[in-house]
Amino acid sequence: MIKLLLTIVCCVAAVNSAKIIGIFMTPSYSHQVVFQPIWKELSLQGHDVTVITTNPLNDPTLVNLTEIDIGDFSYAEWKKSSLLTLGLRPHSVTEELQEISKAYMNLSHVQLSHPIFQEIIKNQSKHHYDLFLVEYLWPSMYPFKDIFNCPMVGILSLPMVSSSYSYMGMPHHPVLDPDMILPFATDLSFQERIGSVAFNLVFKLAGAIQLAPKINALNRKYFGEHVRPYRDIAKEVSLVIVNSNMVNANIKPLIPQVIEISGIHIKPKKPLPKDLKASLDNAQQGVIYFSLGTNMKSNSLPKEKTKLFLDAFAELPYKVIWKFETDDISDLPKNVEVWKWLPQQDLLGHKNIKLFITQAGIQSIDESMYNKVPLLAIPFFADQRFNADKVTKNGGGLSLDYHSFTKEELKEKILTIIEDKKYKKRVEKLAAIAFDHSVSPLEKAVWHVNYVLRHDGAGHLRYKGLDIPTYQYFMLDVIAVFLIVILFVFLTLLKISQFAIRKLKKLYSAYDAMFFGKSKTL
Ligand SMILES: *[C@@H]1O[C@H](CO)[C@@H](O)[C@H](O)[C@H]1NC(C)=O
Ligand SMILES: *[C@@H]1O[C@H](CO)[C@@H](O)[C@H](O)[C@H]1NC(C)=O
Ligand SMILES: *[C@@H]1O[C@H](CO)[C@@H](O)[C@H](O)[C@H]1NC(C)=O
Repeated sequence: MIKLLLTIVCCVAAVNSAKIIGIFMTPSYSHQVVFQPIWKELSLQGHDVTVITTNPLNDPTLVNLTEIDIGDFSYAEWKKSSLLTLGLRPHSVTEELQEISKAYMNLSHVQLSHPIFQEIIKNQSKHHYDLFLVEYLWPSMYPFKDIFNCPMVGILSLPMVSSSYSYMGMPHHPVLDPDMILPFATDLSFQERIGSVAFNLVFKLAGAIQLAPKINALNRKYFGEHVRPYRDIAKEVSLVIVNSNMVNANIKPLIPQVIEISGIHIKPKKPLPKDLKASLDNAQQGVIYFSLGTNMKSNSLPKEKTKLFLDAFAELPYKVIWKFETDDISDLPKNVEVWKWLPQQDLLGHKNIKLFITQAGIQSIDESMYNKVPLLAIPFFADQRFNADKVTKNGGGLSLDYHSFTKEELKEKILTIIEDKKYKKRVEKLAAIAFDHSVSPLEKAVWHVNYVLRHDGAGHLRYKGLDIPTYQYFMLDVIAVFLIVILFVFLTLLKISQFAIRKLKKLYSAYDAMFFGKSKTL
């Protein structure tokens, strides 16, 4: 009894004051906004939390939180990539993947060579952490697991991605759940099914042959020759916390290591700034909110596209509020307002908002759904085309092809979504099911992180599919036995029937000879 009590006290104490380190490398607000509440809440629970991030909270009341800001040089490097302008012209998935991996390799070089990371690597054996949180998207940070020598929990600001499926040995059906970089999400046509299966094969092959050696070489350069292949480390992840729900991602079998926490970035409602509130209150006829998100700036749109949008908006009976980052826009129609910054979540919650025109980033879609606002999706790159297809097929809105749309098409789609009440009704239904949680997403995420701390890892949840040889996973040996048995039975039946036929033939000729042979001689 005393021993049990001691164990409890010791474990509770250990969990109460665990030392946690997090590394979240993607210089994108829409990624970091999913991680922020988790590290904040862990520190509020009394854990000693250190995070290396591109978007620190900088909240002095969080006394148990140390944030190391890698934002300036990471954003500077990321902006050099032509990834963002790629979205503005028609491009192939291959081209986009190449651009993503180039930008990623450059960013990894810049980050890992920075004194912040170099010092951690040099201090090798001096670190004492109980848990390592990492963005489970980019493998150049996984070797820190060996440096911190503790369990690792992965977090994704997206639903499960192809690489996570393979690290975790999880079954993944390319027809039912295509990769998010593809321009379709669900109910695939024959052509799309071929595309998804082919992509799945090529992606795995190119990953193994082309990308993996490059990343391992990069890791050897910064961590030293002894560094383990990143895949081996990735496989040791205790849990992966993912931003998906039954509306923004496809329904699929998930292993217990995958924790869905969609909606974690939704904040309690705050009052709108006075001028914005007045503008929304005054628009009794309804307001359309237009924003292309944090990565794609509206002022990077070519002039002729901006004009197309404005011409279509001018003919609408609604007010349009456009998030536009500069003053570099003229000839605004009377019903269009541009704002450099907008509190998106609170704005979407205003009763006069009728429609959200979005680039279809996952966080924007979740926020729109949460506030029951139908969507017009104009996807550019990354997972946006997948998300746009999902929205359309879910019935929560429509999508528009940026490269080919006309003024009439834009106007017609806007009017259809607003005037045909089925979109609004459908979004209300989708919101009701997507955000009906047994516990809040934040509670769920933090509970699971504490679970890993309590049990010093969650290797016991690891799917066996990861550890058995490929021939066993695909049952090749078992299938071979079945084939041999079938072949044996078939050959036996063949032999028996050949034997029977021979016997019958003999019998027949004897019979023939007995009756007709004789009759002939008669
Ligand atoms: C900081 O952590 C300690 C325990 O380590 C805890 O008692 C305290 O409440 C925490 N403070 C805040 C503001 O989170
Ligand atoms: C990566 O870095 C190289 C060398 O600094 C540069 O030439 C290239 O444009 C960069 N590519 C991307 C996609 O950032
Ligand atoms: C590395 O070790 C030195 C000396 O112990 C210490 O002063 C420094 O804060 C450590 N740095 C990191 C990033 O752990």
